[in-house]
Amino acid sequence: MLHTNIIVAPTPEAVGAAAADVFEALIHAKPACVIGLATGSTPLPLYRELIAREKAGKLDFSRVRSANLDEYKGLAPDHPQSYRRFMQENLFDHISIKPENTIVPDGLAADVPAMCEAYEKQIETWGGVDLQLLGIGHDGHIGFNEPEDHFPAMTHEVALTAMTREANKRFFDSLDEVPTAAFTMGIGTVMAARKIVMVVTGADKHDILMQSFFGPVTPQVPASILQFHPDVTLICDAAAWGK
Ligand code: GLP
Repeated sequence: MLHTNIIVAPTPEAVGAAAADVFEALIHAKPACVIGLATGSTPLPLYRELIAREKAGKLDFSRVRSANLDEYKGLAPDHPQSYRRFMQENLFDHISIKPENTIVPDGLAADVPAMCEAYEKQIETWGGVDLQLLGIGHDGHIGFNEPEDHFPAMTHEVALTAMTREANKRFFDSLDEVPTAAFTMGIGTVMAARKIVMVVTGADKHDILMQSFFGPVTPQVPASILQFHPDVTLICDAAAWGK
């Protein structure tokens, strides 16, 4: 491991607060910064903390731009399980960020390569991502970059693995309803961010956390590429860190 800062916090809430400190520092230093955001359960304490800090007058999202990592293929923005809807309900609707300053891949894109290219272009036009938030899947996926034989560079379509669909079925009525494909920023898109914060909580993530940061760098464990990023802060709870 080369450049990873590691913070072990006692609880998921403390992980959220520590991650919020990183966002707060960036937004103070650069009010019109570009942040990369993630879905899943792990970032929720962070989002609650960011909302509370803006309400308390400590933060101002009015000039911030945000790009989300991924979206399910085939889900409309207002679908209850879409990642766009997740972001609206858990963060955007409660802070001053402008709707036109938030982007999420379009789950209904008719021309997938054009949508993916436009997504990359928008991030580039904004000047690139200053701070990318990541969670991690049990198979080491980041965004929806699943284990593969190479590291995909750009935003692209992916087939979801059985493990990921199984893990995410808790949000749907049944496994059949979980989409079989998604659009995700590539590993290259993620690695281009100037700073990365990964949040990991729960004992069930311990093994993949160790493999990702202390094992070999391999596209079979997509998060392992982070060992090559110059500025990664890993914030995990005691359960994920283990002994
Ligand atoms: C999904 C998302 C990932 C997220 C992962 C883990 O697959 N595409 O971005 O990191 O779930 O989610 P959780 O934090 O709920 O374990």
